[in-house]
Amino acid sequence: MIRGTVRAFSSKTIPEITRVGMVGLGLMGHGIAQTAAMAGYDVVAVDMTQKSLDAGLARIEGSLNKLHARHVKKGDWTTDKAKDEFAAVMGRIHGSVTNKDLADCDLVIEAIVENVDIKKVFYKELGGIVKPSGILASNTSSLSIGDFAGSSGRPSQVVGLHFFNPVQLMKLVEVVETSQTDPKVFDISKRWAASLGKTPVSCKDTPGFIVNRLLVPNLAQALFLMERGDASMEDIDISMQLGAGHPMGPITLADYVGLDTTLSILEGWVKKYPNEPIFAVPESLRQKVKEGKLGRKTGEGYYKWDGDKRL
Ligand code: NAI
Repeated sequence: MIRGTVRAFSSKTIPEITRVGMVGLGLMGHGIAQTAAMAGYDVVAVDMTQKSLDAGLARIEGSLNKLHARHVKKGDWTTDKAKDEFAAVMGRIHGSVTNKDLADCDLVIEAIVENVDIKKVFYKELGGIVKPSGILASNTSSLSIGDFAGSSGRPSQVVGLHFFNPVQLMKLVEVVETSQTDPKVFDISKRWAASLGKTPVSCKDTPGFIVNRLLVPNLAQALFLMERGDASMEDIDISMQLGAGHPMGPITLADYVGLDTTLSILEGWVKKYPNEPIFAVPESLRQKVKEGKLGRKTGEGYYKWDGDKRL
């Protein structure tokens, strides 16, 4: 059981939300938990096992240390101030391996595995645990929130809060409403995202919301262009950098995001919307994933990688 804690005063926090639950402390969840605690919210951080919870908390500590070291280096903070801030932020995060500790949360954000059946089971359990006024938010990037919101038994309290990786740095949050989301819940969720120093945008519960709906088909189109032999992957990438002003070319970006992630998003959409040609899957993408060449994270995708550096 998580004991009551007093929220540190912060002018940034909104009055409707005191305690935030974060479920899944992986790549996205640790960043969201950290960002919420830095803004002054109490955070109950839940993962499935002690090992994965500890890994998530260690990731937060590492990220905070890096951030604080930068303040000290710039001369903005003394080392004592950095130590105090670290203790204050970590003091607001309460790790747990049981969903029951989410009971008293005003807002619970879910960033568990991207699988609709697993999310349905999870939301059913969550709906029975979190107090009735609690808002339930999903960080899903490609599933339809309406497909699992009903399992919670309180679909009017369910929204999407879609953060971007790395959460600590990326400013955008897509706030997603289903046809059943209560406008008051939507408004609180938007103001909460803004209170983290992010820029929230509103979107309906449609495939890929705004960013991925435009981005993922664009990556696929770049691969089709290459597969047809119309241009080389290097020329496609450099064209979009120098001609469209994108910071990274689309095929490099597909490698960067992960080819398995890109494929699974497209395949999910094809299954749900089989007649939508813009969701078509390039054959080379299937092949790369079959070969285990998943991009940056495996050291090879369309390009070869040395850590974060494209070779
Ligand atoms: P991840 O695999 O890094 O982390 C998932 C975490 O959830 C792991 O720590 C795992 O132990 C935990 N987990 C799984 N099932 C659980 C359960 N039932 N209860 C408690 N913890 C559980 O995944 P990642 O990349 O953080 O993605 C999580 C969600 O965020 C997905 O819905 C994904 O679509 C979404 N997302 C991912 C982005 C990305 O760039 N990877 C960007 C935006 C959204």
